[in-house]
Amino acid sequence: ITPLAEAYRGMFDIGAAVNARTLATSGDLLKTHYNSLTAENDMKFERLHPEPGVYTFETADSIARFASENGMRMRGHTLVWHNQAPEWVFQNEAGQAIGQEELLKRMEEHINAVAGRYRGQVYCWDVVNEVIEDKAEEWLRRSKWLDIAGEGFIAKAFAYAHAADPDAQLFYNDYNECDPVKRDKIVRLLRSLKEQDVPLHGMGMQGHWSLYGPSMDDIRQAIESYAALDLRLHVTELDLSVFAHDDRRTDLTEPTAEMLELQAERYEAVFALFREYRDAIDSVTFWGAADDYTWLHDFPVRGRRNWPLVFDAAHRPKASFYRITEF
Ligand code: XIL
Repeated sequence: ITPLAEAYRGMFDIGAAVNARTLATSGDLLKTHYNSLTAENDMKFERLHPEPGVYTFETADSIARFASENGMRMRGHTLVWHNQAPEWVFQNEAGQAIGQEELLKRMEEHINAVAGRYRGQVYCWDVVNEVIEDKAEEWLRRSKWLDIAGEGFIAKAFAYAHAADPDAQLFYNDYNECDPVKRDKIVRLLRSLKEQDVPLHGMGMQGHWSLYGPSMDDIRQAIESYAALDLRLHVTELDLSVFAHDDRRTDLTEPTAEMLELQAERYEAVFALFREYRDAIDSVTFWGAADDYTWLHDFPVRGRRNWPLVFDAAHRPKASFYRITEF
């Protein structure tokens, strides 16, 4: 068999999101097939900076070390996000909301410490994650960052990241990125950042897709729209859930043969498209290494397993694997 990263050498990197457990259980698979890593959770605000003045870098450091020891690149995920950011960031010691100036100061300090520490190890950062609202009529997602600091926090985050690591490539990252309405809002944000000369280098398309959507046409249009902004493209969190959006079944203990065949067809089509846009795409990261561990076990439906990756729970290549490495 051809290792994944080998099949795509000269086109784009092939990455996996990892945590301390999967580093231990999937080390061989990672070394064989992937040449890029992302910390699934361990570089998020709450993990690195759980309390004021307290930084906990151990697990993130061990992931970065694994990457460098094995000649893999490392994507940084993520500096500013509404989720997995601790409450203290937005409050004073008395538990009252802080003001804009103080929040921006805390954001800058965090970005400085984190992007500064991983200079030379992390080559790109998802600086700002998921700030566009999903609801069609609304613009930005409501969050403490937005409520307290106002829309300007987005541009500031990029400026701070650039100051902390002038060599890092800086990305905006989002999901539902192929939905035409949300896509157009993302394009509007990215264009406005570029017009303000914000140091922005790329668009991260998360790629949390399923066997049923988005359509290949919407994926193509999204790639075209983002690439037309003269930004580099990374697919940052790829997985193909075997369930349709409204499927709430929890009784499956194995994927059906039909699911696996549909998934293989879809992975084949998706990677054929990525190859077509190889001049714009630099990196494709799966949100996990193999089906024994994925964040989609239990999410968004409690008690449900999922099989969204290209290696099965025993780390054997699935039909999907062969369809994306033999072309
Ligand atoms: C997810 C992780 O996979 C989970 O383990 C965690 O509980 C929640 O976050 N978009 C992102 C990722 O940018 O950081 C999220 O990761 C998945 C959705």
